[in-house]
Amino acid sequence: MIHQLSDALKSAVDQKPLVFESMAYSLLSDGKRIRPMMLLSLLSDLGGDYTKGIDAAVALEMVHTYSLVHDDLPAMDNDDYRRHRLTNHKVYGEGIAILAGDGLLTQAFMELSKVGSSDCIEVLARNAGPLGMILGQELDIKDEFDSLEDLTQCYLLKTGCLFAAALEMAALIADRKDLQESMRELGYKLGIVFQYQDDILEATQSFETLGKSSDSDTDRGKNTIVGFLGIDEAKKTSDALFDEIQTCVGDYPLLKAMIDSMFVRAF
Ligand code: IPE
Ligand code: IPE
Ligand code: MG
Ligand code: MG
Repeated sequence: MIHQLSDALKSAVDQKPLVFESMAYSLLSDGKRIRPMMLLSLLSDLGGDYTKGIDAAVALEMVHTYSLVHDDLPAMDNDDYRRHRLTNHKVYGEGIAILAGDGLLTQAFMELSKVGSSDCIEVLARNAGPLGMILGQELDIKDEFDSLEDLTQCYLLKTGCLFAAALEMAALIADRKDLQESMRELGYKLGIVFQYQDDILEATQSFETLGKSSDSDTDRGKNTIVGFLGIDEAKKTSDALFDEIQTCVGDYPLLKAMIDSMFVRAF
């Protein structure tokens, strides 16, 4: 599964222009591939042919990577390292990095058009768009959270929406539209717990392990779940949400295995 995904990611950005080189620099670096692998795992669990999900999985990883390239820009989080290497703008400059993000986002829909389901196009556009992930990034930039609930709503949008896209598209490609809504809700929860965990890892792991700055949220004085609850309560809250999620995925062994590995991740 992962090899087919890797090959497909390579061929999606195998073009000469500099902007493609910059797109490939970020797309082909060592991301964990959690979202596309969740899509393929759930598709298999639902009895579908996972190879039918590769184009959608590539599209999703391209959108995710674009979001990271832009997230790292000086105008946003201003980070120098990502995926154990320099961020895109540190290597190619801000102009090309912005275009690489634009290119990844646009090319993603080229890949998605091969799936031949307009429902999948709607799913990715809605979840990635200005009422989804982009709105989450807007809330993140404003950083005006009065409560953990406000912060969690931002996490649902900025991170949960792309997890929702993975699971919703898997349901659609497997011809199980009846599951789309419950998969969306599961994706939101997964994204929230993933982002809680990201905050906890940032507060507890080194730069070398994370492959990205471990102190950037703290430096910027940003709100995180650790800031609201302290590290021990944050871990308890995150563990409780994980337990809740595990009870929803009993029927999906491959997806469950992915979620289990997410739970013990160190970066
Ligand atoms: C990073 O996502 C951004 C967050 C939503 C926390 P990942 O931790 O999945 O990043 P990669 O793809 O492995 O680099
Ligand atoms: C990244 O969130 C979320 C998106 C890019 C949509 P963060 O800014 O919290 O994640 P890292 O720490 O840079 O990976
Ligand atoms: Mg950010
Ligand atoms: Mg960031």
